[in-house]
Amino acid sequence: MCGICASIGKENEVQDVVLGLKKLEYRGYDSSGIALLGDEKISCVKSVGQIKNLEKKIDKNLCCPVVIGHTRWATHGVVSEENAHPHISQDGQFAMVHNGIIENFEKLKTQLDVCLYSQTDTEVFVNLIASKTGETLFRLLQAAKEVVGSFAVALIHKNENKIFVAKRQSPLAVAVSKTKSMAASDISVFAGKFDFCYILDDNQFAVMEDGKVDFFDENGKKIQKNPVFIGDFDFFEETLQEKYFMQKEIKEQPVALRKEFFKYFSECPNLDFEALKKCKSLHFVACGTAYHSCLLGAQFVQQFCKKPCSVSIASEFRYARQTFSKKCLYVFVSQSGETADTIACAKLVKEKGCKVMCVTNVPYCTLEQMSDFVFPTFAGKEIAVASTKAYTCQVFALLCFALLLSGVDKKESLKNFVKEFEVLPFQEKLLKEICKFKKVFFIGRQQDYVTALEGSLKLKEIAYLNCIGIAAGELKHGTLALIDNQTLVIAISTQERLKEKMESNILEVKARGGKVLLLSNLQHNFTPEFRIDLPDFEECFMPIVSIVPLQQLAFFYSLALGFNPDKPRNLAKAVTVE
Ligand code: G6P
Repeated sequence: MCGICASIGKENEVQDVVLGLKKLEYRGYDSSGIALLGDEKISCVKSVGQIKNLEKKIDKNLCCPVVIGHTRWATHGVVSEENAHPHISQDGQFAMVHNGIIENFEKLKTQLDVCLYSQTDTEVFVNLIASKTGETLFRLLQAAKEVVGSFAVALIHKNENKIFVAKRQSPLAVAVSKTKSMAASDISVFAGKFDFCYILDDNQFAVMEDGKVDFFDENGKKIQKNPVFIGDFDFFEETLQEKYFMQKEIKEQPVALRKEFFKYFSECPNLDFEALKKCKSLHFVACGTAYHSCLLGAQFVQQFCKKPCSVSIASEFRYARQTFSKKCLYVFVSQSGETADTIACAKLVKEKGCKVMCVTNVPYCTLEQMSDFVFPTFAGKEIAVASTKAYTCQVFALLCFALLLSGVDKKESLKNFVKEFEVLPFQEKLLKEICKFKKVFFIGRQQDYVTALEGSLKLKEIAYLNCIGIAAGELKHGTLALIDNQTLVIAISTQERLKEKMESNILEVKARGGKVLLLSNLQHNFTPEFRIDLPDFEECFMPIVSIVPLQQLAFFYSLALGFNPDKPRNLAKAVTVE
């Protein structure tokens, strides 16, 4: 996955592309680069690491009418300047940036008579284009027919004042004004510069010129596209008072939940609940943190609607030999709405003629466009790679969805919850103690098991600690063998009905010398080594309450180890490749 941005015009194209890349940095930040077209010559500037490294290499007053840029999350080839995009064809005629994966690149490579300087699939793609004959658009159309996989590309030819773009399975949008045209992986890049944009569908192509854009289908036939109004999208520019976005996003959770409550209960979600009520069961599908939201969503629907639910990890669902039911509602949860595996599953479900609902945080995202029902979250833009506010907003959204679907009226208790819920300061002195343990397990039952999974994922993602979340009752089936006096077990206990069961599991840990950090709002009959007292709310709200100290723990742990919590190594915010 990567981000691409391209601009043609008479303004500050270089600066606009660099600024665009900064906005797309959430898609990867292993390396970045731009290609400039001037006087029928293509030149490149590339850098390893974050965009700020690239920025340092570019003269602030540099002007160029045609610029394409890229921020990379390595798929093919190590992180290096050679592998950074843009890539130039061996004949020096073309430069290209690419987001996606060309699956048959090894085969194509053997068919091309070229000497490659990088290990990337993109260099093969651009050379494939160069190997064709005829007009640039025609060459791109031909090459696109031969490549297997996903791509959003921007291509330039050294003798043409144009940018050629194409898309299959990776997102791409184009915007045009009287003085410039831009293309980007995400429409937030256009904020403040354009009123309208065009979102490309799979196998669509565009030729961008200064103040003009033409769209084509895969056969090169000109097509008309409807513009999307950008103005109604909440793009406010992110400013940072705290040092890190993750810190800011953790703090924003109460406000985000209040906004969400208002949107669902005062403005009323634009959903046909009568149609949805006809479904006999629900199947939730997602990746990463969003998968954890799904686990809770299924519990809420089962509890309040008494409908059977199942939950799948998207990368597993798409290859499972399973049966589909038209009576089942398939719910896809995704912060970005661009996650490749989740989108592939939604497509599969649609092909089977079943109904798709999505819960996404980014308007106009790919997942939203293919869904029959949309239940948006209102977390606002989330920038830190490790999800915090988007997660709690997903959990709250799925709780509200379950309640609205069930007809159970809990509006008042939801309202009181969002009024009273706050982010309490983290007990930093606890951190010193916790940092001493190199072996950490998270345990819980039912909704607390989900919090255990999410809490351990946070610590793994940003502090690089080898930790796992386990269903408390499963400890004795294996993990107990690892418990000794060097082990910390973080136990989450927020359900009165399961309190005693949790206590037995915790005592099993203590009997083996393990140390316990208890997160609870309940009175327990044992003394843990460490304790975080949680504010007391109704059980269904506790997953939102109990995850916050674990988000903070991961954040401060990461800082204590000298890492940047916003940009963990090897990860990206939107995973647009399989
Ligand atoms: C990446 C992100 C996670 C996120 C997951 C799913 O791994 O780093 O924070 O939970 O993708 O993303 P989605 O946008 O589909 O929620």
